Amino acid sequence: MCGIFGCVLKSGSAAPIIHSALKRLEYRGYDSVGEATVNMGKLFIKKDAGKIDEVHSLLNLDDLPGEIGIGHTRWATHGAPSRVNSHPHFSCSEPPKIAVVHNGIVENFMELKKELDDAGHVFRSKTDTEVIAHLIEENIGEKELALKTPSSSPFEKAIFNAINRLQGSFAVAVVSSYEPNKVFCARNESPLVLGVAENAFYFASDIPAFLPLTNKAVYVENGEMAILSKNAFEIKKIFDGSSVTRDLKQIDWAPEMAEKQGYPHFMIKEIYEQPRCLRDTLRLQDKYLELLTTFLDRAREVIMVACGTSYHACLAASYMFSKLSFLATHPVIASEFTGQHGKSVNIDSTILAVSQSGETADTLAAVETARQRAATILGLTNVVGSTLTRVSRVYLSQQSGPEIGVAATKTFTSQLSALSQLALRLAKKRGKISQEDIDILDEKVRRIPDIVEKIIETQKEKVKKLATKYRDKSCFFFLARGISYATALEGRLKLMEIAYMPAIAFPAGESKHGPISLIEKGFPVVFVCPPDQTRKTVIGNIMEMKARGALIVAICEENDEEIIRIADDYIEIPKGIPEILSPIPYVVPLQLFAYYMAIERGCDPDMPRNLAKSVTVK
Ligand code: F6R
Repeated sequence: MCGIFGCVLKSGSAAPIIHSALKRLEYRGYDSVGEATVNMGKLFIKKDAGKIDEVHSLLNLDDLPGEIGIGHTRWATHGAPSRVNSHPHFSCSEPPKIAVVHNGIVENFMELKKELDDAGHVFRSKTDTEVIAHLIEENIGEKELALKTPSSSPFEKAIFNAINRLQGSFAVAVVSSYEPNKVFCARNESPLVLGVAENAFYFASDIPAFLPLTNKAVYVENGEMAILSKNAFEIKKIFDGSSVTRDLKQIDWAPEMAEKQGYPHFMIKEIYEQPRCLRDTLRLQDKYLELLTTFLDRAREVIMVACGTSYHACLAASYMFSKLSFLATHPVIASEFTGQHGKSVNIDSTILAVSQSGETADTLAAVETARQRAATILGLTNVVGSTLTRVSRVYLSQQSGPEIGVAATKTFTSQLSALSQLALRLAKKRGKISQEDIDILDEKVRRIPDIVEKIIETQKEKVKKLATKYRDKSCFFFLARGISYATALEGRLKLMEIAYMPAIAFPAGESKHGPISLIEKGFPVVFVCPPDQTRKTVIGNIMEMKARGALIVAICEENDEEIIRIADDYIEIPKGIPEILSPIPYVVPLQLFAYYMAIERGCDPDMPRNLAKSVTVK
């Protein structure tokens, strides 16, 4: 996730406006920043790695001439944060004639890059974005696609030709000395919205970027290109160039709501973002998935190290690797790793470190112990350029964009999506399950984002009511078996850290070896019970709890009559989810429950006491 912004002013200087808009988009990414303006037919570009304030203090981002320009705040996905990988990217010509900013992932960039390499283009960066600039350049003077409304200039034709070749998700914007009075921006899947003011037109990834400047917005839809000039803007379909008319929308958000896109808290915004993040996680780079799979396949022993939510993702992943690819992996809480495995880990060990921030001190300390004993380090993180990416032999980016809420939500589901894809790939490599089963599971992984979206839409109100009902309880139990034990642990962690509700989680089978002594009339017990092979036994555990007066809240498959009949309350999850993927949808109601419990109990979900987003001390 990155932030893009641009403007065409009737008069004045674009650069300071772009700079302050990027500050308002910084929550979308903050590892690099850049701007390009056009003045007197020439392009001016400033960019570098670092937070906006750091780069501004070195380069003075306000000091670029011109009334037209584009800007970008980056969250690296392809290529580590560096000056050369920062946006805007430009084509071969010197001085640059085409500058491009982009949010999203160009899935076919390797193929396009090869084609452009062969045509003699010279690439400077490791990004997918740079292909767009070269592709436009390559298309200048080429035959136009059969557009319904013929484009007005060779440069516009070149943009249409180029954008029509892109696959994946993008919101892309272009300025050029070929067409110095216009900004072109186009969208497929990544967000793009126009701001309309008396003296200017803007485009941005999100409304907050231009909200202090105008509250009149026009949404650009998937497959559309907007062309902004001083006196007008037009929207055309990318596919055939036909014109689109779209009404202005009045935006009534207060500025403090705007950053959260109208949501009251970052936590709920990020819960709602999960379908989109999961779609992005489906676009993981094949090359790195394959490399990681090869390392895992050859490993003598695999130890997964992580903390908190990331540890819960590892625990779920250990079931995935075992069931799908017959690989035994050991999830270890990072702070325990050195004590538990410090002496036994060696050159034959492979460590898969999982960390959203890539900076968690305990995880990095575990990695350091393993590195010193010559183990192979693999990483899964959200922050390309973090310490974890630098110390890993190979790493995978979980692709969920900055997570601002202290409680990890989209991190858990995106990590699980990435890990399940690894497990599936390994299963295929090892020939452990049939191609037919792999195809079915692949298809199911692709359906997960829609399922998560449906759960949020259909179950949100019900979960809210549950929070009202249970807000005054003094303790909660979370029980589950198999892979759902990880889901139970994660649901319990969210409730504790956000709503300050004491809670314990156990594998349901362990409950009668001690914890059951807590149960008395009215004690709430949450069971995570998808319809896998543990279901029958879990029903037995529910009955044990009921017999002692517990109140049962079940997270079960829709229309699971047997469970619905015995539960006091239940949340239904759509049918047809394979066991190994079940933690992704089944955790969503538990995230919502923690959030609404926090609200009911007067806690601020975005600022839980004593906690920090990234724990950089041991
Ligand atoms: C819980 C939470 C923490 C983190 C943990 C690890 O909601 O956010 O438990 O999961 O501090 O952080 P990363 O994944 O950045 O290593």
